[in-house]
Amino acid sequence: MKGIFISVEGPDGAGKSTQIERLKEYLAQKGYEVLITREPGGTVISEAVRELLLDPKHKEMKPETELLLYAAARAQLVGEVIGPAIEAGKAVISDRFVDSSVVYQGIARELGVETVYEVNRPAIGEYMPDVTFLLDLPAEVGIARKKDQAELDRMEQESLDFHRKVAEGYRTLAKRDPERIKTIDATLPVDTICDMIKDKVQALLS
Ligand code: TYD
Repeated sequence: MKGIFISVEGPDGAGKSTQIERLKEYLAQKGYEVLITREPGGTVISEAVRELLLDPKHKEMKPETELLLYAAARAQLVGEVIGPAIEAGKAVISDRFVDSSVVYQGIARELGVETVYEVNRPAIGEYMPDVTFLLDLPAEVGIARKKDQAELDRMEQESLDFHRKVAEGYRTLAKRDPERIKTIDATLPVDTICDMIKDKVQALLS
């Protein structure tokens, strides 16, 4: 069986984790060995980089540093986990991938989309998701959900204006690549979203 690579994207608080768990069950029923990863993270080295990136104490971090650290964490994850899993025929579901860098660093931090792709080319090589689910949500709703859950990390503590740029950036990206990026309204009930995702994955598999 050929491996498949699915990423799930969206603003903070869009409910990605719940959908990823459901999708895992579905793909397992279809006979796949399923691997879930998250970004930044998913390997010992990438989780250490995650700590650096998300620690609220690191307020002085430069956008360029941020871009390179996300790419570094990604390079390790792709080389150590994602690439080998896809080659072994597994289904990989990644909680965020390079689109997050395009939107957060390229658009919201204004480093430029082309710069983000250039920096990430060595990190991702040939591995791009077969399909990406964008859980679209107004920035205000996402941040309110996060505030209810736990202490906010460095990125979540950014201004509402920043999070609005993120939400809008995702929409722009999805419009540019509708073949790969499937937009889903994340304010819909969890079960409805889950069914929509399954339908699209079913179409991809057949
Ligand atoms: P995470 O806890 O995974 O956030 P969430 O639960 O909302 O998905 O933290 C990841 C944070 O890092 C999130 O705010 C998005 C940000 N991020 C980037 O800015 N660039 C990237 O390339 C990636 C992968 C994440």
